[in-house]
Amino acid sequence: MTIVIEQPELDLQVENKKIPNDENEVVLDGGFKAPEINAFGQCFRDYHIENERQKAVEEFYRVNHINQTYDYVKKMRDEYEKLDKTEMSIWECCELLNEVVDDSDPDLDEPQIEHLLQTAEAIRKDHPNQDWLHLTALIHDLGKVLLLPSWGQLAQWAVVGDTFPLGCAFDESIVHHKYFKENPDWKNPAYNTKNGIYQEGCGLENVVMSWGHDDYMYLVAKENGTTLPSAALFIIRYHSFYPLHRAGAYTHLMNEEDKENLKWLQIFNKYDLYSKSKVRIDVEKVKPYYLSLIEKYFPAKLKW
Ligand SMILES: [Fe+2]
Ligand SMILES: [Fe+2]
Repeated sequence: MTIVIEQPELDLQVENKKIPNDENEVVLDGGFKAPEINAFGQCFRDYHIENERQKAVEEFYRVNHINQTYDYVKKMRDEYEKLDKTEMSIWECCELLNEVVDDSDPDLDEPQIEHLLQTAEAIRKDHPNQDWLHLTALIHDLGKVLLLPSWGQLAQWAVVGDTFPLGCAFDESIVHHKYFKENPDWKNPAYNTKNGIYQEGCGLENVVMSWGHDDYMYLVAKENGTTLPSAALFIIRYHSFYPLHRAGAYTHLMNEEDKENLKWLQIFNKYDLYSKSKVRIDVEKVKPYYLSLIEKYFPAKLKW
């Protein structure tokens, strides 16, 4: 079964990158060379290109911005933190996600497991001693199972795309911000000030984020008692929070621990974005290494 996802996981906030003379590569920390063009011969997160895909992206965000309300997110968290959908191991979930091809992500036309392993292997090359970070890369998108029938086959706008806080004003850096005017929270005086229902420096842990695969996978990891460090949970939970890690918005809600963890998220994000390429991974070859990490940081079976 192949499930084709029609909307994007990412949105463009990176300006067009120039394609270098000889090789289409940029160098990340430690020497991992990332391509400057994606599998379709375009620049990463390039949604400014006038085409059908870009229109679909805008429509995706219009629906997302209207429907992601504080009450909606509360309802979804209550439902999914029951973790009563299935039981399986982390690796089984990787294989399950392999059936999902994110046709809409403009940078990616490989099965998801390739993206997960490309990201993980790229980080492993540059940060060989941070085994927790390798595993974090492997699992960061597993929450996309929300798209599958056993999880209620949620709509795209409730699973992928950039995330943002609810319960306070929508920052202008959020992509296609204009569509929030149709969100019921827009006019709610409790929610439409800079701090809204939060206190400055309260910590992102206390902030309600828009619902999607990030928050769901965070819940799964935490509630199943992972021994991954807090930076790993932070990466999983906020990797689509581009307004924070790209635009620097909402930093007034962070506490000291968030500031430390954000440094790791910024390292991670470069790989999440740039390792989407045609570099094929021999899954069977790297599998034993990742199975050993899963065993180290997770129980054999998790509730989902
Ligand atoms: Fe993701
Ligand atoms: Fe990803």
